[in-house]
Amino acid sequence: MRPLLDLVAGARPNFVKLAPVVRAVVGSGKLDFRIVHTGQHYDAAMNEVFFRELDIPEPHLHLNVGSGSHGAQTARILERYEAELLARRPSATVVFGDVNSTVACALAAAKLGVPVAHVEAGLRSFDRTMPEEINRVLTDAIADLLLVSEPSGLQNLRREGVAESKALLVGNVMIDALVAALPTARQKATARRLGLEPRRFGFVTLHRPSNVDEPATLARLVDLLHELSREVPLVFPIHPRTLKVAEQAGLSARLAPGQPELLCLGALPYLDSLSLVADAAVVLTDSGGLQEETSYLGVPCLTLRENTERPVTIELGTSRLVGNDPDRIRAAFADFRNGRWTAGRPIPLWDGQAGPRIAEALSAWLQGSADGSG
Ligand code: UD1
Repeated sequence: MRPLLDLVAGARPNFVKLAPVVRAVVGSGKLDFRIVHTGQHYDAAMNEVFFRELDIPEPHLHLNVGSGSHGAQTARILERYEAELLARRPSATVVFGDVNSTVACALAAAKLGVPVAHVEAGLRSFDRTMPEEINRVLTDAIADLLLVSEPSGLQNLRREGVAESKALLVGNVMIDALVAALPTARQKATARRLGLEPRRFGFVTLHRPSNVDEPATLARLVDLLHELSREVPLVFPIHPRTLKVAEQAGLSARLAPGQPELLCLGALPYLDSLSLVADAAVVLTDSGGLQEETSYLGVPCLTLRENTERPVTIELGTSRLVGNDPDRIRAAFADFRNGRWTAGRPIPLWDGQAGPRIAEALSAWLQGSADGSG
């Protein structure tokens, strides 16, 4: 009998990382799997559309946890996933990234003695005010197989005392998804359909609590986006979290659709987002995934954060940390306008083959456990 993997996904970036792993697991012919959807993200625009565009099979299990405070959401996932593990025990649980679904399912599995593999292990921002950093540290502390996307991950795990035999540099599955989808995304020509000239516009996303939860900070950033958009038109798909704060803070009119220079949209499907990023002259973002995608595509990226858990995107890629102070962002934007930006270099193992390496690692690991040698 083939080992059974639970592949856990809950939030939008998880779905993108899940797709290449499912493809590789199916391709390996050595592993069975069930997809566990926690329901952390549930709006069709954050959810179904990603499954459809990335060709991910329908989840086998739905935990339907919905939104809530960190404690409430994490607790609901923990309780509901534990019940599923007790009903049918998989050979291992595979979790992705750094969202609440990641840590909750890893914990439920570890407590029941189900081996845990973590895809995108070892990343550290060293900023414990980020909920994701807590999720990363905790998940890695209880994971049995740590699958790492960039060299800093291995160094961090080594420093934290993780046995070398548990950690493996496999590359970046987000880039696998990009490589597979790029031709279709380019054909969509989303920029032109929105009336934007390729290479003549910027793409913006904001959803980190440090940028959007405080109304005064968000208002300052929205003002700045209006200012910059007079130089270079900007397209801004707005995350539901950001939209909620904007409405409460009376910023809705400043973020209304139909403004040609600052083109505000709802959350975008994967292919439209990728199409726009690939055609953009510049990206302004606080997303981890976009730091990676822009680095791969060679698009200048102003990262509106003080730190990053993905330092390779600064060392080899095209990302620069600019925080959320308007003057600093203005200065970086001027650098981009004047061509003072690194072109970036290829990043090792960001080659579209991380999924097959992960499937291989998972099957060797489970084989080792079955033989009693793992
Ligand atoms: C979560 C992740 C973050 C990731 C982001 C990607 C955690 C701690 N955070 O942040 O790391 O970068 O996803 O999108 O796991 N909402 C909806 N519809 C949805 C989902 C959410 O309207 O389908 C709204 C709800 O008001 C909710 C808020 O967005 O309270 C925040 O959602 P949540 O999943 O808690 O965090 P994100 O900000 O999306």
